[in-house]
Parts: sequence; structure tokens; C-alpha cells
Amino acid sequence: MTTLYQAHLAELTNRYEDALSHFNLDAIVLASGEKSYYFQDDHTHPFHAYSGAQQWLPFTLGAETYLIIKAGQKPTLVWPVRDDFWHAPNPVPAGDWQHNWNIVEAKKQDKWYADLPQKTAWLGLKPMEFTIPCEGLKAYLDFSKAIKTPYEINAMTAASEQAVKGHIAAKQAFLAGMSELEIHLAFLQASQQSATQEPYPGIVGLDEHAAVLHYEHKSIKKQANSRTLLIDAGANEHGYASDITRTFVRHNDEFSALVDSLDKMEQSLCAKALSGVEFRKLHQDTLIGISTLLRDHQICSLSVEEQLSKRIPQVFFPHGLGHLLGLQVHDVGGHQADQFGNLNLPDEQAPFLRLTRTLKENMVITIEPGLYFIPMLIEKMKAEIPQHGCDLSKIQQFLPYGGIRIEDNVVVKSTKPDNLTRTAFSKY
Ligand code: GLY
Ligand code: MN
Ligand code: MN
Repeated sequence: MTTLYQAHLAELTNRYEDALSHFNLDAIVLASGEKSYYFQDDHTHPFHAYSGAQQWLPFTLGAETYLIIKAGQKPTLVWPVRDDFWHAPNPVPAGDWQHNWNIVEAKKQDKWYADLPQKTAWLGLKPMEFTIPCEGLKAYLDFSKAIKTPYEINAMTAASEQAVKGHIAAKQAFLAGMSELEIHLAFLQASQQSATQEPYPGIVGLDEHAAVLHYEHKSIKKQANSRTLLIDAGANEHGYASDITRTFVRHNDEFSALVDSLDKMEQSLCAKALSGVEFRKLHQDTLIGISTLLRDHQICSLSVEEQLSKRIPQVFFPHGLGHLLGLQVHDVGGHQADQFGNLNLPDEQAPFLRLTRTLKENMVITIEPGLYFIPMLIEKMKAEIPQHGCDLSKIQQFLPYGGIRIEDNVVVKSTKPDNLTRTAFSKY
């Protein structure tokens, strides 16, 4: 029986054989990367393998590992042998996957590349001098990465489940009055990962910090009376990421009513993640949704049309609706118009939109609307849009709550999208 991994490998092989033939190449080498060091230090940066290499293997790939892809042959894995007493040995991971590979062990000084054909292209950092430049190859392969195989969706389902366990623990830590650091540690423990294993540094913001989109600190101050927790944190399964945000509240009040409304809106957007839909259109629907919410909650008295023309929703929702998700949290190819590298860049209505493609079945995307009270943007609105129609005293009242973001990971389908995050929450 063909396993999900074998079917995935067959699909990758097809994609790469097509690229080899399109660019008239004999081989493509994928390099996982090398460890890099802090300046004048012998500590390394956390290592993440190049996603093009990681995509081929069912375990987390380390540094200095090379893959050689040639048409009509088993792929070759060049595995780095460590023979020093400073580090743990690095055996080739056991498993059935090995049957599909030609595995070559190599020490640092070994010239494993000596027999590579002349027309070899290199993807990854530090190409060797014998390889040929191949403009367009990366874009050609990146475009198809957006469509996930069942094996990849399986991995991302596991990544969502792992992160959701962390989110549930984080909520409990918040309600128990813990500090941001303690909440983050609770998340890490429940999702069984260290901070450097996270697919991106977890964002854990209490109260006003929830209004900082990529808040990067972790206060150690316990907050028995914190009002809001915004946690944006994921996990990964052999490289495949989840990227999940929840906003938890302590009290039932006008702010929690706003959270409930945004949550409903987010779910209706997730339901629209269908093949054939323009993601730009979903972003536009979000701006309309935010204006409706501002009006319904008496934050802005202008009509939806007036708000849109004055760009009021962007004051409260300044980022894009979502992005492709995969081995990279902001996965590659979100702005590509085609595999030939033509771009479809966001316009001034949505300058930060990371996805401008038409949705296709089995793309995995995030849907992450937000509504924030960001002092800098509110001041700018007051200065630049005199007839803003907003109730400033109400906004003043909301400022200490920071903001809201709700982010799910969704598989695009033709009739009913598969919401990996909500399914995971329903299990625990
Ligand atoms: N965690 C980054 C993002 O949501 O895009
Ligand atoms: Mn995201
Ligand atoms: Mn996120």
C-alpha cells in the first residue's frame, strides 16, 4: 500500500521532473543550510532548514544536509556524519522512508559533489561554484508549494493539535493571573516544545500589549486582574507549522461582546475559503465586516460605505486577512501570479496583504481578522480624518483592553473548507 509519504514523494518527484525538463537541467541540489553564528561568539542562531529541502523528508532536517534530485532516479540524501566528541552522534533516522532514498553518508571534507553533472542547479544558501545559476527555478517550484499534499495536510493537522493544547493551557494560566512569561511557558509545556522549536516566536500580550501586532516581550509581572490575553503561537510537525491566535477575556462586558462578534465574523470568513475565490475579495469582505462591527458596537457612527471611503476600518484592522501556511509560517509564493515569477502585488487598499492569489483546493491559509485599539493609529485618524465619526470616549474605554485577533488555519476546499484549528479545539 502506498503511504501518504510515498504519495507525497511521487508528487514532489513529478513537480521536480517537470522543472528539470523545463529548465533543461540534469540535477537540482537542495541544501538544508549551515549553522550561523552571532558576531564574535561561538553560539549559533537557532537553525531552520531551507523549506525546499525539508519538504522532501518526514523528520526535522538538520544543517549541512543535501538532496540531489535527478530525473528517473531515486533521490539521494547526503547525510552529514559527525565524528567529534562535542556533539551527540547524528544517525540517519530509522523508518520506511529510507526505502525511497539513496542515502550517502559524508564527512565535512568528503567531496560528495564530485560526480554531479554539469547542468546542476543549487537551491539554498551558499551554492557551490560548479553549479549553474538558474533564474526562475525557485519561483517555478515555489508556486506549486501552495497546494498541499494529503501528507502535508496531515502534518499541519498534527501541528494545529499540538498548538491548541498549548492555547488551552495558556488560557488557564491567564485566568490564574500569571505573567506573560508564565503564560508562554505554560503554552510551551503543553505543546511540548522549547522556545527555539516554535515556528515563530510566540506572541503573548496582556491588556494594552494585545494592541501590539508582533509584541515580542514577555513581562515577568504577575497580573491577577489582567483583562485580555492575546496569544499568537504555533507548533510544528517535522517543519510544517500551525499559526494560531486566540483572544481570551476575564470579564463579560462590552469588550467581550466585541470579541464574540469578531469570532462570528472570523468563522463566516473561514467558511468562504473555497476554491475559485480571490483572497483579495475576502480581505475586502473583512473590511466591510469590521466597519459593520464598529457601527453595531457604536464605536463609529458612519455608514459602512462612508467608513470604507475614509479608510476607518484600516485604523482598527491595519494588517492583511491572512497568508499561505506551510513549512514557512508566511509560506512562499503568496504574491506569485504564476510559476514564471510574475507577481501580483497588493494594492494601497491592503498594502500588507501577503496573499493575492485565487484560492485553490488544498491550499492551506490563515484567516486572521483583528480589531485593535492602537494609540498611534487613533491619533493619526484624529489628525487626518476630522469627520471620523468615532466615539472617542468609547475608544478611551477600550484602550486598556488592547485588541483582538482570532486566527485559524484552514484547508481550502470546493464546498466546505476544513478548519484545522477549530477541529483541534473541538477535540480538547
Ligand atoms: N504569527 C504571525 C502571523 O500571524 O502572521
Ligand atoms: Mn498568521
Ligand atoms: Mn499568527
